[in-house]
Amino acid sequence: MMNFSKLKDKYKAGKMKKRINWNGPLPAHIAIMMDGNGRWATRQGLPRTAGHLAGMNAMRETIRFCHKTHIRYLTLYAFSTENWKRPKEEVDYIIRLVHAFVTDRTLNELNRNNIKVNFIGDISRFDLDTRQIMQHAADVTRFNTGMTVNFAVNYGGRSEIVQAVKSLVAEGNSSFSMEEFESRLYTSGCPSPELIIRTSGEKRLSGFLLWQSAQAGPWYTDEMWPSFNEYLYYQALHAYQCRKVRTIS
Ligand code: FPP
Repeated sequence: MMNFSKLKDKYKAGKMKKRINWNGPLPAHIAIMMDGNGRWATRQGLPRTAGHLAGMNAMRETIRFCHKTHIRYLTLYAFSTENWKRPKEEVDYIIRLVHAFVTDRTLNELNRNNIKVNFIGDISRFDLDTRQIMQHAADVTRFNTGMTVNFAVNYGGRSEIVQAVKSLVAEGNSSFSMEEFESRLYTSGCPSPELIIRTSGEKRLSGFLLWQSAQAGPWYTDEMWPSFNEYLYYQALHAYQCRKVRTIS
């Protein structure tokens, strides 16, 4: 049975959903910085790993919200280059969650819904098993034509730009065009994100999609990532639409 606070959230989500103009502009690409798993857990006297597990559930749900509302591209910041500095047990736990995500029924669900999955970032730092799991997810969903979900792992915006330049220069191309440069970014083929959501009250982009976010509007919430829900999702979409109307008129 659904508890009272879940029912309240559903009611609030329903009200917020009605405020969105579903025939109006919606972002083609949403990027999310899923921040605050650790703090969410600590506040409840739980180990940080419990926060990551709850964060993974919020992530699954959010993919469903985006799919339901016909968002074409979703990029989720799952692991930054800085995250390696965390205790080994925590890093290992997050990597185990990646394995679980790919090997449990979630990947099947995404595949059934015609969703393409990519892992973007410098994946060479992960062990062979993990790299193979990431490749497997991309292979299985390669021909899907619905939404694309990018998981940014061992991702840093500055390193992405440096690797793109290096790959062009290595081919002897030092007078490359903007299009050629963009084709070497991890997000090649995706439009630039128009809405970037960050949870946990941090109000900065921390180099996430550094090049691609030039025209994006950020939307911040004080809620920790495991508490992200349909109501907050619609709030972010609503804020996007209001901003869009202001910039067009
Ligand atoms: C940020 O919270 C979250 C992370 C570093 C990890 C997020 C990873 C997942 C939700 C699972 C990944 C799974 C797949 C399939 C990609 P934080 O720990 O930085 O929170 P804090 O700021 O409170 O410490």
